[in-house]
Amino acid sequence: MKNKTILVTAASRGLGYGAAKALVEEGAKVIICGRSEESLKNAIASLGPNSQYFVADVSKSKDITELIDHVKQATQKLDGLFANAGGPPPGTFSDLSDEHWKSAFELTLMSSVRLTREALPLLRNSDSPSILYSTSISVKEPIQNLLLSNAMRPAVVGMMRTISDEIGPEGIRVNAICPGYVYTKRVDELLAKSREGSSSAKDAIEARIPLKRMGTPEEFGAVCAFLLSPVASYVHGALLLVDGGLYRGMM
Ligand SMILES: NC(=O)c1ccc[n+]([C@@H]2O[C@H](COP(=O)([O-])OP(=O)(O)OC[C@H]3O[C@@H](n4cnc5c(N)ncnc54)[C@H](OP(=O)(O)O)[C@@H]3O)[C@@H](O)[C@H]2O)c1
Repeated sequence: MKNKTILVTAASRGLGYGAAKALVEEGAKVIICGRSEESLKNAIASLGPNSQYFVADVSKSKDITELIDHVKQATQKLDGLFANAGGPPPGTFSDLSDEHWKSAFELTLMSSVRLTREALPLLRNSDSPSILYSTSISVKEPIQNLLLSNAMRPAVVGMMRTISDEIGPEGIRVNAICPGYVYTKRVDELLAKSREGSSSAKDAIEARIPLKRMGTPEEFGAVCAFLLSPVASYVHGALLLVDGGLYRGMM
């Protein structure tokens, strides 16, 4: 990944950070974003000199424009975009208001749409451009109490599969990665809100996973780095589960 520059959004911790770390370890330069500057500074301190940050909330159109302007000034080209965002809040149908639905639309779907639109001109300047959308196992089967994720993420996959036909001819690859349970702050927070309590909820989830444990951000990041690298040059329009075998469907 030497001489490659990858934009990794929502990456001061968790899955985004795991992807950024793996990419830097493969020799890439990364630009990460998030909302808290302090968290971003800490992330850069551990990612090292091939990383830089820009403060941006990907649920906001203006922030995405400013982020991509920054990337343009810094590098003129992008070799990869890892489109990631924070997760929408949990809740059942009766818990969620129009405001929740609108926020989830901006955060989960429109962040992917806008990042793609704004990054495409810079990706066209690369000889191995690639976009990877961070989605979830929820695009394969719904997760209880995560209605907004279950509803919005399949729309990201619909966009990805559609534009694979539209921008594939230009040599721009698009794929989606679908984590099952990767142990991060978000998962910890969701477990803490569960009725049975954090530790029992974690045990119950791990019992359902054939590998009997949650994944780590490092394990997730390694797969992101592969999909964004030229090694995956014929992987296009694909959905890849990183779930320890949790999803049992045949397709
Ligand atoms: N972990 C899993 O097992 C799993 C499984 C399926 C799907 N997912 C999804 O994957 C995504 C990442 O999850 P995670 O587990 O890594 O969460 P996390 O540990 O909470 O990390 C979220 C990261 O995103 C940043 N962020 C949050 N909202 C943002 C926004 N609006 N704009 C820019 N940056 C933002 C956070 O920094 P700031 O707070 O400073 O902005 C932080 O760096 C979420 O959408 C989650 O729902 C995760």
